[in-house]
Amino acid sequence: MIESILPQVSSFADDIDFLIGLIAVITLLWFFAAQAIFFGFIFKFRAKPGVKAMYIDGYDPKHKRWITYPHNAVLVFDVIILVFAVNVWNHVKLDLPEKVDDTVKVVAQRWAWSFQHSGTDGKLDTGDDVFTGDVLHVKKGANVVFIGTSRDVLHSFSVPVFRLKQDVIPGREGTGWFRAEKAGTYDIQCTEICGIGHGVMGSRIVVHEPADYDAWLAAAPKGEAIAGNVPVVPKAIDLYAPAPSSKPAAPAAH
Ligand code: CUA
Repeated sequence: MIESILPQVSSFADDIDFLIGLIAVITLLWFFAAQAIFFGFIFKFRAKPGVKAMYIDGYDPKHKRWITYPHNAVLVFDVIILVFAVNVWNHVKLDLPEKVDDTVKVVAQRWAWSFQHSGTDGKLDTGDDVFTGDVLHVKKGANVVFIGTSRDVLHSFSVPVFRLKQDVIPGREGTGWFRAEKAGTYDIQCTEICGIGHGVMGSRIVVHEPADYDAWLAAAPKGEAIAGNVPVVPKAIDLYAPAPSSKPAAPAAH
């Protein structure tokens, strides 16, 4: 259903969509049940000539059942959602793939994304790293681990077609992974309010066919020394340092 609006490009996109569908079905079921009972009672207990209205305080077990039975049923449905959700969460967020094909660093700042690709050796912070300031390049079918960080405030790295969303936090390096399974160019967006430019903090991800990716990598300028590279600064800013004061120094007491 969701994939007709937004394609499923990562290996775990359909797991996430399944959860969204499951929750939608369960909540719709309850919505219609609640509305049916609500309007049914309005009709059944409508004002009738000669029948006096009754005050119900809800303490009678016969009346209280209308609360406790649905309440218990809701708890059962909660547990069902939880079991499926924990399963998907472990697979998507907690487990990293055993075979890692590539590692990239994703750096956020107000209001742009920059990327450090590990190059041919698959290792970050070596001489053959490729830096891009606009587009993240990945290979179709490759297990890509990303390390996300921020230079200033909280941002969130989001690739809607991957059903991927990961907060990036200044002073920390968070890890996640994905495997893209359809070649193409897709959107990257920021999904954490980060200031006036939040809405335009977009970028692109290109999922290459393996041969295309190798050609891109071979042609890409490598190493930090190349002009126009985006220096990646994982150094944390010290949020607790006293802010530099713009006020003139107080006059000496006399
Ligand atoms: Cu970065 Cu919102």
